[in-house]
Amino acid sequence: MNTTGFDTLGGTLSTRVLFGAGCIAQLAQEVQRLGGARVLLVSDRGLADAGHVAQAQAILNEANIASTLYLDVQENPTDEDVSRCADVARNDDSDILVGLGGGSAMDAAKGANLLLTQGGRIQDYWGMGKVVAPMLPLIAIPTTAGTGSEVQQVALISDAQTHQKMACGDPALRPATAILDPNLTLSQPWEVACSTALDAMTHALESVVTTARTDLSQRFSTEAFRLGYSAAVQIMEGSEDPFVRGEMLKAACYAGLAIDHSMLGAAHSCANPLTQTFGLRHGFAVGVMLPHVIAFNAQDSSVAAIYGNVARTSGLVPENAPDKDAVDALISAVDDLCEKSGAKQALRALHEPVEHISSLASGAAEQWTAQYNPREVGVTDFEDIYRSALTR
Ligand SMILES: [Fe+2]
Repeated sequence: MNTTGFDTLGGTLSTRVLFGAGCIAQLAQEVQRLGGARVLLVSDRGLADAGHVAQAQAILNEANIASTLYLDVQENPTDEDVSRCADVARNDDSDILVGLGGGSAMDAAKGANLLLTQGGRIQDYWGMGKVVAPMLPLIAIPTTAGTGSEVQQVALISDAQTHQKMACGDPALRPATAILDPNLTLSQPWEVACSTALDAMTHALESVVTTARTDLSQRFSTEAFRLGYSAAVQIMEGSEDPFVRGEMLKAACYAGLAIDHSMLGAAHSCANPLTQTFGLRHGFAVGVMLPHVIAFNAQDSSVAAIYGNVARTSGLVPENAPDKDAVDALISAVDDLCEKSGAKQALRALHEPVEHISSLASGAAEQWTAQYNPREVGVTDFEDIYRSALTR
């Protein structure tokens, strides 16, 4: 009970978020506002081919702001990638970073920022709260609507030797500015748009129930699903409407804000071993596991009530629908997204996945996200969840 007369929503927000078709035009203004003069633009060759890198550079040139490119970002950036990226920034004396791309580009920029300003190796920053010196300002410009990294304090960097994904987190890693321009998301291949949308919806439905959830994070999670579900369906049905892309981009950002305060749960724990073993796309892997994780978690009536609230708020069921019906509707809605996106087809194409259930479950239990799942989940539970997902 609140006895102090004060209440808190339970979170801190520190990223300035710009949104709107064409708002990348404000990039130079933001660089100047943040005191930058020499930009390191971190992106990849695909986005250069799509013309987005040249567009960003032209905006900077017009304002007489010097920029250097680092275009070698790969999916799931490694310690070696961020080290090369930091070397380029160091050689050019960059004083501000711009991460343009999906989660990989934004996380690579965050990782390079750590090495530039704190020194050492990226492994030194695995865990939370390791930043001791001021960091360079970072502007994040997402070109997919998925990770929400543009508003998060965590960078996921892989160890090139061990393939371990290291979550490096600190409030100082949150970008100073996020520029959400729906026009930049139109160049994604359909399969990428579908898998990132599924990832964002999984972020919404995992973060809303975690043990770390707060009032603020639940509001972001719930709004992310309400806004993103209908946009995701339309994108999966082939829509390229910039308005719909904008709604999806906002939803992914809201889900990202939610994760920043509340972490993730068992669907993400299950997904990483599936991706490592079979190369299944992250968004597909989390999506196909999610209905089975919801069913597992909803055995706790207080968790079922939260899922029920999301389903009712999103209009999946009438406002007076009981939790059981609302949870069933939510599971069906996610299942439908998995079918429409091609995720289920990708799952059905895996070679004898049931043979791997035991090793997948051991891998899932070791993932950092498992500790935040609202119901305690161990190796045997993971085996049951995988069996349910892989034998359908
Ligand atoms: Fe994810």
